[in-house]
Amino acid sequence: MKYNWATLGCGVIANQLASALQAQGSNLYSVANRTYEKAITFADKYGIEKVYKSIDEVFTDENVDIIYISTPHNTHMEYLRKALTAGKHVLCEKAITLNSDELEEAIELSKKNHVVLAEAMTIYHMPIYNQLEKRIKSGEFGPLQLVQMNFGSYKEYDMSNRFFNPKLAGGAMLDIGVYALSFVRRFMSSVPTDILSQVKYAPTGVDEQAGILLKNKEEEMATIIISLHSKQPKRGTLSFDKAYVEIFEYPRGQEAIITYTEDGHKEIITDGSTDKALEYEIIDMENAVSGENDNMCLAYTKDVMKIMTDIRKEWGMFYPEEI
Ligand SMILES: NC(=O)c1ccc[n+]([C@@H]2O[C@H](COP(=O)([O-])OP(=O)(O)OC[C@H]3O[C@@H](n4cnc5c(N)ncnc54)[C@H](OP(=O)(O)O)[C@@H]3O)[C@@H](O)[C@H]2O)c1
Repeated sequence: MKYNWATLGCGVIANQLASALQAQGSNLYSVANRTYEKAITFADKYGIEKVYKSIDEVFTDENVDIIYISTPHNTHMEYLRKALTAGKHVLCEKAITLNSDELEEAIELSKKNHVVLAEAMTIYHMPIYNQLEKRIKSGEFGPLQLVQMNFGSYKEYDMSNRFFNPKLAGGAMLDIGVYALSFVRRFMSSVPTDILSQVKYAPTGVDEQAGILLKNKEEEMATIIISLHSKQPKRGTLSFDKAYVEIFEYPRGQEAIITYTEDGHKEIITDGSTDKALEYEIIDMENAVSGENDNMCLAYTKDVMKIMTDIRKEWGMFYPEEI
């Protein structure tokens, strides 16, 4: 079945999603945006049939099946409430909400209205990770011991964008920590329960860089180092008894290098393509909506949101909406 997608927001990532929907042969039917003129330009660019004068019209349009939300983090909940209550399926950009309380409310709404709610997290859809997961589960590498994740980008202290602006729920944790934690959660056997962290704040008061140390009941451990003001490789390492696996550009990874403990020999595996990351996400979302197969990993999203919420609570770092 062909679904009618609507995009709420038409910024950087919405452009990528629109291209992916086109490449995938899915139907981007309509666009809603705070600035109407930008929605018109966006619609022209992608040949979109319908442009709403005001955002709220997207929720009452009965032709819309799936709403893709890609506005700043602190605006997600308002739109999730409206979309889910209106009975729309929702794919919402990371971080899906500000905290666990908001996410619980959204999940309840999705259940009540019998619709799919999912976070747009490419890590759950890349073929390389599906392949790795199968091999890990087969036991060929032995038990998982350690996960190490880095993600650092250099952003100027510019308050006109969302990265350091507390009023747009800026900060490293919600922007990039969510990727590292989603990767960790995907590969750890169970949710981490012991959590330690360190934070350095940006001049605006949001978290600029952080170090996180996690352990679960199986005693698998993970370290995460994130920064919005210092470039780092987007590298992940999974260490087992019999091998370690390195993944580069992990939010949209396509290649992994396996180094075997016994003799140091390396095996390179590739699967899928970085360029198609959003297409895999779209396919999984449409399959979840059709009821064919739910691979949207909302349970992991919930675990990750709880970890981020607990860590920020411990730091005493809250957004204006949370005070
Ligand atoms: N999955 C990924 O790989 C990925 C990559 C980048 C970003 N993201 C996520 O996607 C979201 C958007 O990021 P982006 O980089 O695309 O941002 P962006 O380019 O700045 O675009 C932001 C969009 O949100 C709208 N907007 C801004 N403030 C708003 C407000 N107060 N109320 C309603 N709408 C508002 C903007 O509308 P106007 O046209 O009116 O300004 C624009 O359409 C964030 O949640 C981010 O974390 C995900």
